[in-house]
Amino acid sequence: MTELEPSSPFALAGDPLALDAETMRALGHRTVDALVDLLTDPGRPCLRRATPQEMEQRLPAAVPEAARDFDELLDQLRTDVFPWMSRLDHPGYFAFIPACGTFPSALGDFLASALNPYVGTWMEAAGPSRLELVVLEWFKRWIGYPASAAGVLVSGGSAANMTALACAREALLGPMTESAVAYVSDQAHSSVARAARLLGFRPDQVRIVAAAAATRQLRPEELAEAIDTDLAAGRQPLFVSAAAGTTNTGAIDPLPELAAVCRERGVWLHVDAAYGGFAALTERGRAALHGIEQADSVTLDPHKWLYQPFECGSLLVRDGRLLRHAFEIAPDYLRDAVAEEEQEVNFADRGLQLSRGSRALKVWLSMSFFGAAAFRAAIDRCLDLAAMAEDHVRATPELELMSPASLGIICFRRRADGGEDEDEVARRNAALVAAFERTGDGLVSSTRLQGRYAVRLCVMNHTSGEQHVRGVLDWFARADVPAVPTAQARRRRSPRSGALHDHAWLASRPFSPAELAALPLFASLDAGGLERVAAWAPEQRVPAGQAVTHRWDAARDFYVVIEGRAVAERDGRVVAEFRPGDFFGELAALDWGAGYGYARLATVTAVEPLRLLVLAPAHLGQLMAEAPAVDEIVRSAVRHRLAQATR
Ligand SMILES: Cc1ncc(COP(=O)(O)O)c(C=O)c1O
Repeated sequence: MTELEPSSPFALAGDPLALDAETMRALGHRTVDALVDLLTDPGRPCLRRATPQEMEQRLPAAVPEAARDFDELLDQLRTDVFPWMSRLDHPGYFAFIPACGTFPSALGDFLASALNPYVGTWMEAAGPSRLELVVLEWFKRWIGYPASAAGVLVSGGSAANMTALACAREALLGPMTESAVAYVSDQAHSSVARAARLLGFRPDQVRIVAAAAATRQLRPEELAEAIDTDLAAGRQPLFVSAAAGTTNTGAIDPLPELAAVCRERGVWLHVDAAYGGFAALTERGRAALHGIEQADSVTLDPHKWLYQPFECGSLLVRDGRLLRHAFEIAPDYLRDAVAEEEQEVNFADRGLQLSRGSRALKVWLSMSFFGAAAFRAAIDRCLDLAAMAEDHVRATPELELMSPASLGIICFRRRADGGEDEDEVARRNAALVAAFERTGDGLVSSTRLQGRYAVRLCVMNHTSGEQHVRGVLDWFARADVPAVPTAQARRRRSPRSGALHDHAWLASRPFSPAELAALPLFASLDAGGLERVAAWAPEQRVPAGQAVTHRWDAARDFYVVIEGRAVAERDGRVVAEFRPGDFFGELAALDWGAGYGYARLATVTAVEPLRLLVLAPAHLGQLMAEAPAVDEIVRSAVRHRLAQATR
């Protein structure tokens, strides 16, 4: 342990946590040296996984009662911690949303952390508060917001979306009511659903509007219909979250048209541009995001496409006064810090956090160091690379384009050799994704588009070049497909998670195993399987004329018709009829937990009195994992309905 000779003007002789200036410098230099070695080491793979057991062995939870040598600690971090994480700055990192910071931003974080300014009130942090205002001013200009707009830096897109919903509710409604309704497309990021849940919206107060199958954009006419249906029913349409772009495919919703729909109906339009918004720095990005300036609020995440390290998100509100109105509270113990004039911004009054540090420092330092032109060039290059990737996929017979380049994302997959069904194609591509990870050269992730497996390439790193993008695509075109276990074997090995606890002994049982065995869906189940379904499934009776599920509902139950007749209607047309033995709700039920997944595409109404068997999504999932024949019946219905729903 280094001998302490406190020389700081504040250091007490006996201060157990003080360091002298020379030691601080020495530790800082050693840390930077270790860091630069790590950052410039080309051999570190894109991802190295480890099991919890391995990590527990490497990092036991014993409290370090005695002091340890700093170099030894750095060594341990180098050996036991840093290798076991993804390398988000890797040029081959195209998974999820890449996050590739810059070194000056990291230094900005270091300064913010070491100086530890309190950026909740102007009184205590006029300098850092001004820095945050400056950074927010840049963001406002980039998206075309007026001077009267205001914003706040938060931890990320999820926090920003929640802040937006809270702000909208306070502005338009005040206290929460049971009639308030929020609207998103089925392509929206799941953070909006979480925000709604946390702010007291029940599932039936969130409408999930199906995006157009071809473009994956929210359709203004369908949104208008959903809002008008709620207005006619006496509910209070409050908040629409549009995307620019979506996490799945980078799709940008038609913002000017959505703004018009919302304006005409007095609904708050939020644009979640967490991932795509900074494309506005470029000319083509600005054109693609046209209309964003009409939104009431916008989420932008500097820790995504503005190359800032975690955590840095932001919310901008067009009428800036509303943000303060929603959050400002002045308790007695903060009276000394109440702002004295309008220009004195207390950022604690613009969001949830009272104690907050300076996220602006890193943004300001890195933007000012490189200049905005450098960031614009980096973003532009990613747009070029994504467009090039699309061309490359189109020109490669082994690959199938699943969604065109939009704001840096393209989706593709390896074509089937012929004759394979969707499940087989998905399995083979999933095996390729896993094998690609094992190469250490890069990382991609996957998603589903209209129920079809897609490999998703998100090109956002300033470190990625043409050779890296082509390299991944060529690998996927050429690599041998690893042997994959059959669906049945996989199910046996890994039953679906998320199953509900089996409270069979608690339930009253409206259905007997014999009654269930007579239904085609359950005909393959053995006595144990029938018992379990009988224990899980409650009964629901619905009188003729009454709806069972509503289009745009967020509820996810799965229904089997036991008695009676029902019809599914969409746009005033009957699109399906259900009789005893038929089932519905499988699309939504299977997607539970996957963000929004699929919206309820139709309203199902009883034509004759219905007796229904209801399965919770987790029970349906568990049943399908255990019973291949049930799995096949439900999946083929999913395929059929998705094909029908495709426009
Ligand atoms: C469109 C969109 N919104 C919100 C989020 C959530 O942002 P964060 O992870 O910063 O909370 C993401 C993250 O990927 C996103 O892509």
